[in-house]
Amino acid sequence: MSETNETLHDRFIELADLPVEGSVVDLGCGAGPALAAFARRHPKAQLIGFDREVESLAKARERLRRHEGSVKLMSADLREKLPLDDESVDAVISSNLLECLPDPDALLHEVGRVLRPGGRAVLSHSDFDALVISGAPDALDRKILHAFADDAPPWMDSSDGRMGRKLPGLVSMSPLERTHVETLVTHSTELTGHAARRVGDVRGALRATAMRGRGRVDPVEVEDWYSALQQAASAGTFFFAETAVVVAAQRV
Ligand SMILES: C[S@@+](CC[C@H](N)C(=O)[O-])C[C@H]1O[C@@H](n2cnc3c(N)ncnc32)[C@H](O)[C@@H]1O
Repeated sequence: MSETNETLHDRFIELADLPVEGSVVDLGCGAGPALAAFARRHPKAQLIGFDREVESLAKARERLRRHEGSVKLMSADLREKLPLDDESVDAVISSNLLECLPDPDALLHEVGRVLRPGGRAVLSHSDFDALVISGAPDALDRKILHAFADDAPPWMDSSDGRMGRKLPGLVSMSPLERTHVETLVTHSTELTGHAARRVGDVRGALRATAMRGRGRVDPVEVEDWYSALQQAASAGTFFFAETAVVVAAQRV
């Protein structure tokens, strides 16, 4: 199985085309896996990460503590103006953030403001309505995956399971010049690694929604689905595929 994140981070690095000591900002950096990948390839880069989860920022700080270049990890609400000067950074990256924002266009305007002319933005989003997880009976499988694509957990101000397919259009309508679009498909025949994490996300999100008395599936259905996947994995009939849409753009 290919690891989505490794492949994705390699593409971020290639498409961002960062100068040796350039600055890269990760919007919604989480625990900093993408910035860590930049740190390995560009030991003197200036790394900046924004997220509003302080626990994730603490993990990112730990992960990047040996980086030679500067590291700034800040708590920020990305629904607001970015706390960066105009034309002050070389590259902006972001993965699986935009669906959480009620107004993703506003953030893309901000990306255009803070990038220096010629600076690159590389944005990626999984399309959760195109998730393939096979192993449970078809009807249950459809019910669970559609419910996940439409799930609106309380930690997200907004949610759109179809953001992946919308991303190229959003960027083309922004002040940035869209330069490249591609898809990265991760697949697995085993319930391990990224596949296991994503199955865990689906299970956790739908259980939590059901517990709040919301959503379209009950906790028993979620557990039936999960047991069926485990059995399929043991029998060698499990299959998983996730598509991430990656869009590169440039500040003109
Ligand atoms: C699905 S996670 C993606 C994390 C990371 N980019 C990755 O690909 O592993 C979305 C991240 O966006 C952050 N986030 C969501 N809404 C936010 C907001 N309004 N302001 C700042 N961060 C936000 C969350 O805290 C979370 O870390």
